[in-house]
This record gives sequence, C-alpha cells and structure tokens, in this order.
Amino acid sequence: MASSDLLSLRGQVAVVTGASAGIGRACAVELARAGADVAVSFHGSHEGAAETVSRIEALGRRAIAVQGDVGTETDVISLFDETERQLGPADIVVSNAGLQRDAALSDMTLDDWETVIRTNLTGGFLIAREAVRRFRAKGRRPEVSRALGKLIFDSSVHQRIPWALHVNYAASKGGLKLLMESVAQEVASEGIRVNAVAPGAIATDINRTEREKQGGMDAMLTLIPHGRVGDPEDVGRVVAFLASDASDYIVGQTLFVDGGMALYPGFRGNG
Ligand code: BGC
Repeated sequence: MASSDLLSLRGQVAVVTGASAGIGRACAVELARAGADVAVSFHGSHEGAAETVSRIEALGRRAIAVQGDVGTETDVISLFDETERQLGPADIVVSNAGLQRDAALSDMTLDDWETVIRTNLTGGFLIAREAVRRFRAKGRRPEVSRALGKLIFDSSVHQRIPWALHVNYAASKGGLKLLMESVAQEVASEGIRVNAVAPGAIATDINRTEREKQGGMDAMLTLIPHGRVGDPEDVGRVVAFLASDASDYIVGQTLFVDGGMALYPGFRGNG
C-alpha cells in the first residue's frame, strides 16, 4: 500500500468528544479531511457543534452533533448508540473533552477538584470503556484498517510537567497518562491501538485569559522553544496520524505536540 493510502481514514467512523471548539473541533475536522465521518460530541455549545458539523460537511463527509456529558455514564452510552444509529459503529474514538478550574491549593474547593477529575479523568475512563466494548462488538474491518479500533486521548504537557496553581488539572492529566498506558497494555493484543497526544500551549479558549493578559503572551513564549503558540490544527493533524494505519506500530505512546515545551527550556544556558 502507498503511504498516502495508509493515512486515509476513508470508510471509517470517528467519535470526538469536546468537539464544539478548540482542539476537539480541529481533531474532528482533520479526521474528516482524511476521510472519516464524525460524531461531534459536545457539552454546552449547540452553535459551536453546528459549526464543526458544517466544516466537516464542507469536506464532503457526514457529521452529527450529539450533546452529553462525558462524566455521565448514560450520556456516554447514548453517544455511542446515536453514532451507531446514524453513522455506523465507531472505528476511531478521540477522548478530548477537558476543562480547567484553576486555584491555589489552599483556595481550591472540593468542587473545583471534583469537576476537573470528573470530566478529564473519569470522562476518559468512561469513553475508553465504551470504546473498547463497541470495538469488540463491531469486529475487524480489514478493508478500512488493520486495527480493530483506535483510541486516542488528548492529554497535556502537564501529564509530565508539574503545574502550581493547577493541581487538579495536572493530577487529572497525570492520571490520564497511566490510564492510557494501562488500557493500551490491556487491549493491544486484540488489535485495539491506544495512544495519546500531549498538547502544550495551543491557542484555544482554555488559555485565552492567560494569553491576552498584560505580558501574558511573552511569558508563555519563554516556555516554547519553537517560538509560537500552537494552532488546534497542529494537534488535529497528529491525531489523524495516530488514527491511521500509518501509525500502526505505535502503541501506548504519548506524542508531545508542544513546540518543545516539555524540554524544560528554562535550562538552556542555565542549571
Ligand atoms: C492547558 C493550557 C496551557 C498549556 C501549557 C494545557 O494543557 O490547558 O491552559 O496553556 O497546557 O501550559
């Protein structure tokens, strides 16, 4: 097979959570660009999800928007039911939905903690469990992929880099790292490939306040050797690669998509 064929997702169905904006939307669009039909899972923004759907349709692919909360078991089950009913069983699942509730440790409420763990980590567990169940039920489709299924988590550089004033977020992403690796180890022999991306500073709503505050952008750029904040598409393209047979021998890995942020650039000429 030519290598361009290996990158094709034609004939496959993808589910992307948190796809009404930001990195989730870019993943959904890049998967569609590679040929997949996409279920756009979203929590709050109907308009955002509709925009993602129309960008996918403009690429000639099918898309549906499905509202739900990744931290709620029944919502996750109906997301997969709805996808199957309208598009067919999922071959690719991207667990992307995530949020921040920032506070100094001494000011962090239990609600701040639980909200972040519930969406970022418990959501990842519920999506992963349902994805694996559905991949097994679907069975192999060798005409579209070597894998029985592909599961990709959207983690963060903060699965590795400690983050003061964001301990709930860093703990959720550290948890995701070993969730991903343990699930990968558990299901790889069945042909289910599980991997993650770890984005650094990507221009989305999650860090808009930080980027737009006085001096914020300059401060952020000191952390990025590449010299620019990332675009959501920088991450979406890597997710599309991890979903494709071009990455068939990559199992249980995290690809850092961070312009070098995880290289601890403060040590250049220092230490
Ligand atoms: C966070 C962003 C932050 C970036 C780099 C991401 O995981 O969600 O707010 O800008 O990490 O620190």
